[in-house]
Amino acid sequence: MYFIGIDLGTSACKMLLVDEAGQVCGTVAREYPLSFPRPGWSEQDPARWWQAVVEGVPALLEGIDAKEVRGIGCGGQMHGLVALDETDNILRPAILWNDGRTAKEVDYLNETIGRDKLRSCTANIAFAGFTAPKLLWMRENEPELFGKIAKIMLPKDYLVYRLTGRHATDYSDASGTLLLDVEHRRWSKEMCEICGVAEGQLPRLYESWEPVGTLLPEAAKALGLPESVTVCAGAGDNAAAAVGTGTVGAGRCNISLGTSGTLFISLDKFSADPMSALHAFAHANGGYHLMGCMLSAASCNRWWQEEITGTSDYKDGEAGILPERLGRNHVYFLPYLMGERSPINDVNARGMFIGLTMDTTRADMLQAVLEGVAFAIRDSFEVAKSLGTKILRSHICGGGSKSGLWRTIAANVLGIPLDMVATEQGPGCGGAMLAMVAAGRYSTVQAAVDELVSVTAAVEPDPALTALYEERYQQFREIYPACKALFPKLL
Ligand code: XUL
Repeated sequence: MYFIGIDLGTSACKMLLVDEAGQVCGTVAREYPLSFPRPGWSEQDPARWWQAVVEGVPALLEGIDAKEVRGIGCGGQMHGLVALDETDNILRPAILWNDGRTAKEVDYLNETIGRDKLRSCTANIAFAGFTAPKLLWMRENEPELFGKIAKIMLPKDYLVYRLTGRHATDYSDASGTLLLDVEHRRWSKEMCEICGVAEGQLPRLYESWEPVGTLLPEAAKALGLPESVTVCAGAGDNAAAAVGTGTVGAGRCNISLGTSGTLFISLDKFSADPMSALHAFAHANGGYHLMGCMLSAASCNRWWQEEITGTSDYKDGEAGILPERLGRNHVYFLPYLMGERSPINDVNARGMFIGLTMDTTRADMLQAVLEGVAFAIRDSFEVAKSLGTKILRSHICGGGSKSGLWRTIAANVLGIPLDMVATEQGPGCGGAMLAMVAAGRYSTVQAAVDELVSVTAAVEPDPALTALYEERYQQFREIYPACKALFPKLL
């Protein structure tokens, strides 16, 4: 018996074949372009996501009996606006989670409608990447296209639609639209009115593990799978990654160092940050979570290594960072290459190096990049602590977590042990586990986690290094407030 987990990422779609014991038997990835039509804008063509699946799944199935596949589950990049017309054609490129064009609409929602109103309808306030401000932007800037919208969905929901023909979403991903009443798990009528959309334009809501349907004949044919395969609703990529690392149940934590960087705190009962610096979202196990999301994490490393120093050998770059330099770097990096979401909520924030001297080396600058991302995650960690949340250890996943050096930096900046799990495949693994529940292999997400997830390695913080990083972090946190007023003038 096999299950397929699909991680619909920002740079690539990663597909996993998982057997009934949770072993990853194969992985295939297909990349697609990301376009930045203007500074701060970020778009992608949903047709390329489907093309990636149509190319990737048959490659994944090579050498196995496709009749043994029972379920598919997706974890997808969150918040992206996918708009379809009445014949389900894509109206425009999807506007992604890291797109910053909606400053005006965010202001309107937070200031004119008001944060308290938004919180009472949704449990959250507006951030540039969320879906609701994008709808307002479309209404204002592309009224003709806006008038043609028949269905609104999130990125992974488009894949579920192509697989099953159904317009569906799940609560974890719907939380990031700012159209969902998160606590009561239903669309907010008031938010729909504010954004000029009818509830009928929104997809039907499911729990992440619930089956949405089976494969359409044309999808089954294109993928080389039987029509009987069950497709579950899936989850936003952070909730799916949390399932994949076993981050379900009260107080458990997962850090993801992907294109974005997230601090994800699982909760059994609904709770929200009164200041809304952290998002209050539904989890994929039926519970809730608090999340801090930084817009550029592993992407800062990629930017520095590939764009600036022109290397794709990340290990080689890291080799110049000697262990005795950790905690002693006087170069700092603000990782705000796409503006920033949590906790500062500033679309105008920009990346910067500060503290350079004539003896600064390339290795110091790479170290500053890795440390800057860890410090920015610590900013959200501090907010969580201020809410009384006790985080004694965390899982860590995502492309950046493969670097032992980065894990060491993060463990010491946060001062907690960081656990890696055996099947470090983030959202794809979580997607496959949700599909197992949908297909009846497990009765709950918790049961799947209990049986399938195990920790293989932990990085323990070193008290001396943690103390050094504490001093560095206190300096780091002064930089953004000192520069904040300057950023809008640099546009
Ligand atoms: C979460 C967020 C990102 C994307 C990345 O709020 O915007 O983590 O989901 O894919």
